[in-house]
Amino acid sequence: MRKILIATEKPFAPVAIKKISKIFDKENYELVMLERYASKQELLDAVADAEAAIIRSDKFDEEVLEAGKKLKIVVRAGAGYDNVDLEAATKRNIVVMNTPGQNANAVAELAIGLAIFGLRELYSGKPGGEMRGRTLGLHGFGYVARNVFRIARAMGMKVIVYTQYSKGAAAAIGLKVTNSLEQLYEKSDIVSIHVPARGVHIKSVSYDILKHLKDGSIIVNTARKEVINEPDLIKIMEEKPGIKYMSDLTPDAEAEFVEKFPGRYFFTPKKAGAQTAEANLNAGVAAAEQIVGYFENNDATHQVNKPK
Ligand code: 3PG
Repeated sequence: MRKILIATEKPFAPVAIKKISKIFDKENYELVMLERYASKQELLDAVADAEAAIIRSDKFDEEVLEAGKKLKIVVRAGAGYDNVDLEAATKRNIVVMNTPGQNANAVAELAIGLAIFGLRELYSGKPGGEMRGRTLGLHGFGYVARNVFRIARAMGMKVIVYTQYSKGAAAAIGLKVTNSLEQLYEKSDIVSIHVPARGVHIKSVSYDILKHLKDGSIIVNTARKEVINEPDLIKIMEEKPGIKYMSDLTPDAEAEFVEKFPGRYFFTPKKAGAQTAEANLNAGVAAAEQIVGYFENNDATHQVNKPK
């Protein structure tokens, strides 16, 4: 009997677990749950005899992958797979997949919510502003950004985008693509970041880009903290006292924000973008189906590494 581990420090909603269980029951796979675990050792023990794992932002580094002696596939129920050591997985012939798009609407709704929270001065009673008529700049144009675009357009916003790889797709739906990232930051009242924590994107939001922001603009980050150069962000917030930073990721330099920028930042206590029943259901079920598809039909769609 194949053993499938769900290792989620941040658990899925019960409705998702119920549906995932049904999928594995049908195949006669055994489902093992490790939720809200507090130590890495618990993860190392749990992964030891699993053939497949469904994870979220749970860290699957070389040590965990090495402990998973029987592991054949790891599915990150979500978009970003920066928490998985792809090289270590490839070396061990472990297939790694994500579930692109499945939780995108949830993250997009949070991005819009954070933007409104910032514009309304954190609901403090101070007069704020409205989304309608403002310019929203999308930094990146993946599934989340496309959902943000759909919502923002309905709110009467002007939406622009900077994307290196999806210029045609953006233009095809009437989105204005800026010539440079600098131009995006310069023209936007709100910038929403939607690039992965990989390659050129790491620390790509640096002073050279941030200095183009208007005073009074809002940066929304539901992507990853690694894409922001934090000292540069602090520098620009010192120089332009109207800039706000609204994020689903708590920066490493949180203490500095608390000290220097009261009323100008918000960080969710725990990453909440994909934390809806619908997103858990969509991403969790997709992950389960991808595992079955891989074991039963050798279907490696959405594989993000290439074992030799
Ligand atoms: C993702 O990459 O899909 C999101 O950041 C959601 O992450 P989570 O599953 O840890 O909530």
